[in-house]
Amino acid sequence: MEYSIESHGLTKAYNGRNVVDELCLRIERGTFYGFLGPNGAGKSTTIKMLTGIIAPTSGSARILGYDLKRNMLAIKKRIGVVPEEQCLFENLTAPEYLTFIGRMYGLPRQVALNRTRELIEVMGLDNAVDTLILEFSTGMKKRLSLCAAMIHDPEILFLDEPFEGVDAIASRTIRTVLEQARKRGATIFLTSHILEVVERLCTHVSIIHEGKLLFQGALEGLAQGARLDEAFLNLVNNGKTAETGLSWLGAGN
Ligand SMILES: Nc1ncnc2c1ncn2[C@@H]1O[C@H](COP(=O)(O)OP(=O)(O)OP(=O)(O)O)[C@@H](O)[C@H]1O
Ligand SMILES: [Mg+2]
Repeated sequence: MEYSIESHGLTKAYNGRNVVDELCLRIERGTFYGFLGPNGAGKSTTIKMLTGIIAPTSGSARILGYDLKRNMLAIKKRIGVVPEEQCLFENLTAPEYLTFIGRMYGLPRQVALNRTRELIEVMGLDNAVDTLILEFSTGMKKRLSLCAAMIHDPEILFLDEPFEGVDAIASRTIRTVLEQARKRGATIFLTSHILEVVERLCTHVSIIHEGKLLFQGALEGLAQGARLDEAFLNLVNNGKTAETGLSWLGAGN
């Protein structure tokens, strides 16, 4: 079987420590995949490697059948990315930025303009078409970043915390649009700490902790009837949470 995303022993070391450690992923096309893990687990580092932002220390990966080391340009044409740190050209307006990105992906001018108009309307940015991006709020920048990731109709979307900072209305729109992309055959690979959203959207999940995969498979296989947050805590933290709180906020102090 040819996987949409496949990695073997994918590793990234910083200062002699493997922050992503021998990661072996296998993700079928058309999967809505949640990549979960606590802060510092290695999620963003993995996305950066799979999208060519940083080079792995060792290991290999194939994206849509293309080798990550040898065919990065072919891969970049076919994927869309919402990175952890937004990198928008802030001295442009949203329509200028999206049309530019569309043209960079080789869309004919009229197609880029039409898709820009539609994305801006659907993502609720139509009241800010004359505003420079540097004046956008956090949630508006996140929505624009998703628009830019989708304008060329990519086969895989890599989304690092796409719901962080967006309001409930935009969150619903984003869910609808992502579902639509998946039904069309796209693979969605997302990280999120909002487990209710993951539970609602994802068919498959993996959990990474201290750079190592603890679980990979169908969502039901992980949760087994329990809530996802409980399954997550059990796996990552052996069910432990801090019960003590802050000493100076305790009763009688
Ligand atoms: N450029 C870097 N130099 C050194 N260490 C790094 C660098 N980037 C990430 N790390 C370390 O790698 C580990 C994994 O970081 P990463 O950003 O991938 O975590 P994450 O799972 O995305 O966490 P979060 O949920 O907080 O976004 C962390 O311990 C982090 O400190
Ligand atoms: Mg991260």
